[in-house]
Amino acid sequence: MPPDRILIIGSGTMGSGIAQTAVQSGIPTELVDVNETQLEGARSRIENNLAKAVDKGKLPASERDDALSILRTATEIVPDEKISFIIEAVPEKLEIKTKVYKLIESVYPPDEVILASNTSSISITQLAAPTIRPDRFIGMHFFNPVPVMQLVEVIRGLNTSDETTEVTRVLAEKMGKSPVTVKDMPGFAANRILMPLLNEAIFALMEGVADAEDIDSVAKLGLNHPMGPLELADFIGLDVCNDVLQVMHREFGDPKYRPCPLLVQMVRAGRLGRKSGRGFYEYGE
Ligand code: CAA
Repeated sequence: MPPDRILIIGSGTMGSGIAQTAVQSGIPTELVDVNETQLEGARSRIENNLAKAVDKGKLPASERDDALSILRTATEIVPDEKISFIIEAVPEKLEIKTKVYKLIESVYPPDEVILASNTSSISITQLAAPTIRPDRFIGMHFFNPVPVMQLVEVIRGLNTSDETTEVTRVLAEKMGKSPVTVKDMPGFAANRILMPLLNEAIFALMEGVADAEDIDSVAKLGLNHPMGPLELADFIGLDVCNDVLQVMHREFGDPKYRPCPLLVQMVRAGRLGRKSGRGFYEYGE
C-alpha cells in the first residue's frame, strides 16, 4: 500500500519536482523548508508548471486544482499521524542531512515512518548509520526534471529491509515512475554511467578536440542524446558533477573517475552551470 500522505523536506529543484509529481499522482504532500523564500518559489514553480500543462491542453484544469488542493507547504516539521513516508531532498552535505534526520526522529516515531534520501552521491549506508532505524532508511533518487524523467533509483543500504524497499518501489510506481533497485555503491548505477561520460566530454573540451557546441552536437546528432554532455553538466550543476566524481574517485580509488581539472577549475571559479548563470555556456540572469 502506498502511504496516505508524504512529507518532503527541502524545496529546491528536486524537492519541488518530487512534490509536483506526488500531488499530480493524487498523493497528499507536505513540502517543508526552513527557507520561506525558497518555499514560495517552489510553490510558484509548481503552479506555473501545472498552468503551462493546462494551457497546452495536456492537463484538465480540474486536475490542476485537485493537485494544488492536496499540496501543503510549511517552514517547520510538525507531527501528522497520516504521514508514514518522508523524502529528504536537502543540500548534499552530510552534516545538514544528519541534522535533518535528528529533527525528523524527534517529531516522528522512527518505527512508524520510512525515511528516504534523494541523495545523488552520499552512501545510503553511511547516511543511515546514525539513525535509530537504519532498516527503515533507503535511497530514492529522482532525476531532473522530476515530472518528466521516468526513472527512480531505489538504493538499498546494507541494513535496508525488504519491506522498506517494497514500500518505496510501490510509492515510486504510484508516482508514475519506473523504479530500479540498485546496491549502495559509489555513484549508484545512473551516475556511475553518466558522470564518466560528462567528465570525458570536459576532457575533450580541455584538450581542444572540439569546441563546446560541437562536442554537444556529436552527442545530440550522432548518439541521439536529448542534450549534449556539456549542456547536461550545466543543467545538473558542475558542483554536483564534481562532488559525484570525487566520491567515486575516492571510494573506488580508481583514477578513471578523477574529475577533469577544467571541471574543478570551473567549480572554483563559481561557474556552476545554469544555476549560476554561467558554465560551459552563458545563461544570462
Ligand atoms: N519541470 C517540469 N516539466 C518540464 C521541465 C521542468 N523543469 N522542463 C521541461 N519540462 C517538460 C515540458 O513542459 C515539456 O512537456 P510536454 O512535452 O508535456 O509539453 C517536456 O518536458 C519537454 O520540454 P521542452 O519541450 O521544453 O524541452 P525539450 O524537449 O528540450 O526537453 C528536457 C527538455 C526534458 C530537459 C530534455 O532536454 C532532457 O530529457 N534532457 C536530459 C535530462 C537528463 O538527462 N536528466 C537527468 C540528469 S541526471 C540527474 O538528475 C541525477 C543526478 O544525480 C545528477
